[in-house]
Amino acid sequence: MEVILAESAGFCFGVKRAVDKVYEQIETGKKIYTYGPIIHNEFVVQDLGKKGVEVIESEEALEQLTEGTIVIRSHGVPKSICEKIEKQGLECVDATCPFVKRIHKIVEKESAAGRQIVIIGNAGHPEVEGIQGWSVTPAIVIESEKEAQEFVPEAGKKLCIVSQTTFNYNKFQELVEIFLKKGYDISVVNTICNATEERQTEAKDIAAKVDAMIVIGGKHSSNTRKLYEICCKECAHTCLIQTLDDLHLELPKAVRLVGITAGASTPNKLIEEVQNYVRINF
Ligand code: F3S
Repeated sequence: MEVILAESAGFCFGVKRAVDKVYEQIETGKKIYTYGPIIHNEFVVQDLGKKGVEVIESEEALEQLTEGTIVIRSHGVPKSICEKIEKQGLECVDATCPFVKRIHKIVEKESAAGRQIVIIGNAGHPEVEGIQGWSVTPAIVIESEKEAQEFVPEAGKKLCIVSQTTFNYNKFQELVEIFLKKGYDISVVNTICNATEERQTEAKDIAAKVDAMIVIGGKHSSNTRKLYEICCKECAHTCLIQTLDDLHLELPKAVRLVGITAGASTPNKLIEEVQNYVRINF
């Protein structure tokens, strides 16, 4: 079986940086916590757990801590959480991806300057909640055409539109177009991360030419699900797996070419495992 592995499969720069920071902190011998799972991959989180790293799941749990180091993951957090960590005298290691940090700065500055913030993204996603938490006035989250059509800005307000870093580029443009047609005074900042765009474009190209496509990633990872959706449109035999155990590909005999890509939180080790398995067993 011939395999095409996407070059952009797996950890992006921001996730790699955050995971590396946690492993570095373990070396200090101090008690380490991450604010939320460091990445959307339960196997990595389990490995860190074995090394004594605990996950803080809520603000209330954070409030109970009296000592230790808190690592903020690549998604970032609302400003109030950074302030809370500092106020409690805990050590903070901020592993917010610099591309997400850039959005925080834009949102803070533009909202302070009087613009209403519109985030194109998935409401409830931790990155989006983090971004909302840097706006000095309430930020609106829009993820569908219907929401964009129905949106009415606060009276007299100018808008600043940013995007969740992992949002689909074409959908972002479609939604921005709806806002532009309404004739508001809008400042649009495309804050979609290139890593996501490159991964999506490469996945689409590979899926279009292979007989079967494997997408590896966590079931709670939104960027993995988006990759899966993109590949499904191009290739009927597309499957989404978390680990090698989920791989039950029933392939017709004629299948010669299999493509593999992986979400931003998928460790290299797992990608290699799947790749080797497919080469040998199909
Ligand atoms: Fe950062 Fe882009 Fe990854 S925003 S966390 S490098 S997907």
